[in-house]
Amino acid sequence: MHKTLIYNIGLLATPVGKSARGGAAQGEIQKLENAWILAEEGQISEIGQGPGPDLEGFPGLAIDAGGRLVTPGLVDAHTHLVFGGWRENEFGLKLHGASYLEILAMGGGILSTVKATRSASEEELKEKAKEALLEMLSYGVTAVEAKSGYGLDRETELKQLQVIRSLQAEMPLDLAPTFMGAHALPPEYKENREEYIRLLCEEWIPQVAQEKLAEFCDVFCEKGVFTAEESRKILEAGKKHGLTPKIHADEIEAIGGAELTAELGAISAEHLIACRESGIQAMAKGGTIACLLPMTSFYLGADFAPARAMIEAGVPVAVASDFNPGSCPGLNLQLAMTMACLKYRLTPEEMLTAVTLNGAAAMNRADKLGSLEVGKQADLVIWQAQALEYLPYRLGSNLADVVIKKGEIVRVNS
Ligand code: NIG
Ligand code: FE
Repeated sequence: MHKTLIYNIGLLATPVGKSARGGAAQGEIQKLENAWILAEEGQISEIGQGPGPDLEGFPGLAIDAGGRLVTPGLVDAHTHLVFGGWRENEFGLKLHGASYLEILAMGGGILSTVKATRSASEEELKEKAKEALLEMLSYGVTAVEAKSGYGLDRETELKQLQVIRSLQAEMPLDLAPTFMGAHALPPEYKENREEYIRLLCEEWIPQVAQEKLAEFCDVFCEKGVFTAEESRKILEAGKKHGLTPKIHADEIEAIGGAELTAELGAISAEHLIACRESGIQAMAKGGTIACLLPMTSFYLGADFAPARAMIEAGVPVAVASDFNPGSCPGLNLQLAMTMACLKYRLTPEEMLTAVTLNGAAAMNRADKLGSLEVGKQADLVIWQAQALEYLPYRLGSNLADVVIKKGEIVRVNS
């Protein structure tokens, strides 16, 4: 049996449980000093304090944490991982005052990435996404949700999902695939949106589900993109075929996306910058996780989502990157952790839950990921830090040192 021992852990900090933690429980972290973790076949089999198992003749890999901080591997529960090209040309437009929705209406934005993604080969998309995953891993991220949505035609949407599937087979990260054919209306259907929605609901969703290419279905519910009514229809079609609903809601304007979550049983609502009280209440009622994306707020020069009101209403908050070539071309989740504390006013403990257990729950993987407990996967980070607060405090530095996935060392930064 393959064993791994991580010993001499100065502080082990982890949320506890197999489901999302909301309200006061979001800030309840277990902190163990002078701890060790034993993993067998990639799963945690024992956690203890004090000297731990005898190192002499230990039958496996023994890793000295050097008295430092250990947390669960970070979970990035919202990314648009697979895309062709970049959009640095929009940076100048932005600086001259063009808004995100104006750029999209001009045929830029998502639609320009759609062109680049359609013309890229599967191999090219895969190489590019792989580079991004390797960079994420270097920041301590060990699980990632990845959306399609830059194809907007059957072939390219499937190509994006195939890329995610083949990366899952080779990369040491857990990937959760989401079908997002409703990311924008493709130019071909500009005059015929009903037909595009019909294709999504009656042809593409059934095929994606049948080929098991995605677990979730997501819609960009936004002014000028898809209405709340259209979003409901698409997400219900997904549900009918076994795809769990997620929704991009209230990113720029509140048009009723968050309010849909309770009736749809959405696992998560994402962005929520402009979320209203009625949206927060719907999420609380539906047990929906609010997946917040502070780097996108920063990059768009927008407000920050009302995270404290959500926590007070008992809504579990996750924090993710939103990595994509438009509204957030960055994937450093540690930077999002700093912003979560400073801009959402999360405590470091609430923030840790947001980037581990609640992210895992938003990917329907809280039974095996997101905390360091017996029976969970041995995914963890040894940090260049002694204290939890040190992580959000050191703005912009990469503090992850050793990244461990299923009990194996997959990245060392020092
Ligand atoms: O989450 N909001 C929609 N989708 C992305 C942006 C995609 C893009 O600009 O390419 C987001 O912000
Ligand atoms: Fe997004």
